[in-house]
Amino acid sequence: MPLIDLRSDTVTKPTPAMRRAMAEAEVGDDVYGEDPTVNRLQERAAEIFEKEAALFVPTGSMGNQTAVKVHTKPGQEVIIEERGHIYNFEMATMSAFSGCIARPVKSPDGSGILTWDEIKGAIHHVTSYYVTPTGLIALENSHNLAGGSVLTRERTEDICARAHEMKLPVHLDGARIFNAAVALNDSVANLARPVDSVMFCLSKGLGAPVGSMLLGTKAFIDEARVIRKMLGGGMRQAGVLAAAGLVALEESPKGLPEDHANAKLLAEGLAGLPGVKIDPEKVVTNIVIFDVAETRLPVDAICAQLRERGVLMSGFGSSIRAVTHYDVTRADIETALREVRSVLAN
Ligand SMILES: Cc1ncc(COP(=O)(O)O)c(C=O)c1O
Repeated sequence: MPLIDLRSDTVTKPTPAMRRAMAEAEVGDDVYGEDPTVNRLQERAAEIFEKEAALFVPTGSMGNQTAVKVHTKPGQEVIIEERGHIYNFEMATMSAFSGCIARPVKSPDGSGILTWDEIKGAIHHVTSYYVTPTGLIALENSHNLAGGSVLTRERTEDICARAHEMKLPVHLDGARIFNAAVALNDSVANLARPVDSVMFCLSKGLGAPVGSMLLGTKAFIDEARVIRKMLGGGMRQAGVLAAAGLVALEESPKGLPEDHANAKLLAEGLAGLPGVKIDPEKVVTNIVIFDVAETRLPVDAICAQLRERGVLMSGFGSSIRAVTHYDVTRADIETALREVRSVLAN
């Protein structure tokens, strides 16, 4: 039975074009800066994002944590929405590696998208030496655990302008910024323009097997390259990976509207099921999170039964997450909906 894998958009398999590009990639030693394909990917990403420079990193987590390290000093705080990836899923690296702690901020409307006023309330500005100083503000667009919600260009500009007045840097975890750009009908360059650094993943909705990019000023990327090496991320003939990344960067964004339409279809179907709580209006990218507390069925049991029926989703708390991507068709979504309906009816 073919599986319909909705656990994440990280499960995508490289396309034939990516595999061809990987096989034919021109390579060199990237630690010496001599891999032409890595260099091309970095230049192309910088051009698309209109940033001075870019760095190819093996994972989004390494990209984010490299940025935290460059922007902060040990003993500082990083302000982040309480469900942010950098805080919840990166193994406390900001404390283990950068010597920082997170200052999590709740988003009162549940959207995961903070306003300046919410951020401002958490800032410890350097007015007295005896409060833990804020070193960095970390944003996320789209916001994974908040159901793929998006941060507009105007909100990002507002937060960054005010943070910069206080001499605070802003890093954007843009793992899925291409999804956000599609949802907002804006460009990734506009969404990332005001931030000091941005990370985006080639390995999620864009479908590359491995890799993320970190972008910022040339001076920032020069420092980031040293930190990447410290973390063991200096790769050698990484051009075989960058080649797939280049295909992902050029080809995959055009498929994202279809992923979003599939996510919306799933959300609308789920909203009609008894005991399921989800507002399809709020599903604007490729992530669908629905609450099943009122079904009174344990989340693990629902996911296990779905798995037996060939549909994979991930459960957490009283919620289930489904993520659409290019290996999932509209017909798959219809099948998945049928299976969820039937599991909940049992
Ligand atoms: C929002 C967000 N940021 C960062 C990452 C980290 O990416 P990676 O798994 O490549 O370390 C993820 C991964 O799921 C993510 O969803």
